Amino acid sequence: MKFFIDTANLDQIREAQDLGVLDGVTTNPSLMAKEGITGRNNILKHYVDICNIVDGDVSAEVIATDFKGMVKEGEQLAELHDQIVVKIPMIKEGIKAIKYFSDNGIRTNCTLVFSAGQALLAAKAGATYVSPFIGRLDDISTDGLNLIAEIRLIYDNYEFDTQILAASIRHTMHILECAKIGADVMTGPLSSIEGLLKHPLTDSGLEKFLADYNKGN
Ligand code: E4P
Repeated sequence: MKFFIDTANLDQIREAQDLGVLDGVTTNPSLMAKEGITGRNNILKHYVDICNIVDGDVSAEVIATDFKGMVKEGEQLAELHDQIVVKIPMIKEGIKAIKYFSDNGIRTNCTLVFSAGQALLAAKAGATYVSPFIGRLDDISTDGLNLIAEIRLIYDNYEFDTQILAASIRHTMHILECAKIGADVMTGPLSSIEGLLKHPLTDSGLEKFLADYNKGN
């Protein structure tokens, strides 16, 4: 399972990279705005800064919602760095753009996916990644994890190459459940990854080991 961090915050990306288990980064326009990154040139520079920190794929989202606009913007993003994956929304024009990029060797991440039908369409169009937003489904009392299981089944039935990128991860249990189902990638906040570290028996066990060592040394 690949671990992506879902942020545009460079300090958090560095911290996750330093941990040695980071495989990539996902961003979106809201995450960029949260870091105060505005203006086309600053946004493009920020993507390059992220690519220079992490060894892995970096999703950069288009703002255009028409086919021509998405193609133009996506090509510009893809030219920034070979780690860039163009993030395209799950809309009709987006599917056309994903197909275009797939035919032209540009990798894509189909975002804002909330149903198995949408995921099937993204795979048919040749998306590199599909991003089902499980936390946002949970927020409206719908089982986000069930969507991951449905997509896994469909992709396995037809051996689609599209990777399931479980997105909108909110906590550590989401990561574990996605790993059991077989999501290819998860993207979440640093806290969700660091949550995997924690167990009280580890802490008390280590405390005792160190105390016993210190008695005789
Ligand atoms: C995915 O790539 C999105 O950036 C993200 O996971 C959305 O998560 P949120 O629902 O926490 O905003």
